[in-house]
Amino acid sequence: MSEIRNKDLWQSGQLKIDWVRAHMPLLNGLEQDFSKTKPFSGLKIALSVHMEAKTAYLCQVLAAGGAQMYATGCNPLSTQDDVAAALDHSGINVFALHAATPQEYEHCLEKVLEIGPNIIIDDGGDLVNLMLTKFRKLIPGVIGGCEETTTGIMRLQRLNDTKDLPFPMVLVNDAKCKHFFDNRYGTGQSVWNGINRATNLIVAGKTVVVAGYGWCGKGVSMRAKGLGAKVIVTEVDPVKAIEAVMDGFQVMTMEQAAPLGDLFVTVTGCDDVITEKHFALMKDGAILCNAGHFDCEVDVAWLEASAVSKVPARENIKAYKLASGKTLYVIAEGRLVNLAAGDGHPAEIMDLSFAVQIMSALCHSGPQCQISGRQSYRNPRPRGHAAECS
Ligand SMILES: NC(=O)c1ccc[n+]([C@@H]2O[C@H](COP(=O)([O-])OP(=O)(O)OC[C@H]3O[C@@H](n4cnc5c(N)ncnc54)[C@H](O)[C@@H]3O)[C@@H](O)[C@H]2O)c1
Repeated sequence: MSEIRNKDLWQSGQLKIDWVRAHMPLLNGLEQDFSKTKPFSGLKIALSVHMEAKTAYLCQVLAAGGAQMYATGCNPLSTQDDVAAALDHSGINVFALHAATPQEYEHCLEKVLEIGPNIIIDDGGDLVNLMLTKFRKLIPGVIGGCEETTTGIMRLQRLNDTKDLPFPMVLVNDAKCKHFFDNRYGTGQSVWNGINRATNLIVAGKTVVVAGYGWCGKGVSMRAKGLGAKVIVTEVDPVKAIEAVMDGFQVMTMEQAAPLGDLFVTVTGCDDVITEKHFALMKDGAILCNAGHFDCEVDVAWLEASAVSKVPARENIKAYKLASGKTLYVIAEGRLVNLAAGDGHPAEIMDLSFAVQIMSALCHSGPQCQISGRQSYRNPRPRGHAAECS
């Protein structure tokens, strides 16, 4: 039933899954419990998360809990074909292709929805969006779902506001155990793994411009500083901009930063952060990449349309020569650099994030289900007792 590039790659993918399994103790524990308790028995789960080794293990833990799993990737460049093959080899239905065209990408999302899921596990909101547009007749079968990332939550919030969300979604990213660690330390480390792997250049001494000083931007900036870069932050929220100043970074607008930067990282979850007017100001040889969920933060479409030449400069890097004579380099087509040019977050980080993801999915299974209705749910935040003044 699976649709993957090459089933013969499974042994290489299996090694990757074995490695992460050995470094994900929370998921190990849940897998052991679930193999006895089977909390997802009889439930079909449609999952769209970056199809790499940690996600494959997440699928296997849910399957150990009795779920019928149907898995796809949430980004065409982050799918690893060998991991997809290994997951298929372990008996799970996988629909994911590395470097999928937009049509192939949507086809894979459709395949996991066609089965009529009871629970949706989404990362970025594409699966829920497709359910609400093309698969409305299957909505009554959905008990609920969970959303992994900030961008997906922003999309759910809009549906919530217009009362168009037909089933409850748990906002995994809002759990402190998610964004404190995954967005900050996970993105902080893995973005630099991706950039370093793609470029093989030194970071020390370079001027790095980080757009966005949210949870991810803080991590990316902190690690850039640790690698010896001069770090400039651009941020539209004045409070976060002050926070960046207090953390020791230079803060300015992208117009001011554009001529100074050697390497640019966008991580805002918003579009058009770096556009034509900024390209015009940049140095010859500047390198650009994105770590936000969608490939709309750097205007790669403009570079594609307007460059006088575009050639591969290195695996995962494209060189755009502009009419002005200067060349700009873009890593991984402006898609999230840590997954498209690397293996994503460290296993220990995803252990925590996926444990929250699994516990959120568990909220929807069985009679103990505590959430209902048409809205999104924040993960509970424990609070201590307020100190009492005497
Ligand atoms: N690469 C990964 O592995 C990974 C991991 C987690 C989240 N994400 C994604 O990264 C993005 C950011 O997530 P987050 O949790 O840091 O969000 P966040 O909301 O905490 O931070 C985003 C920040 O960007 C700022 N911003 C918005 N538009 C801007 C602009 N034009 N210029 C400068 N700053 C701007 C906002 O004010 C905000 O402070 C989202 O798309 C999220 O889904 C990626």
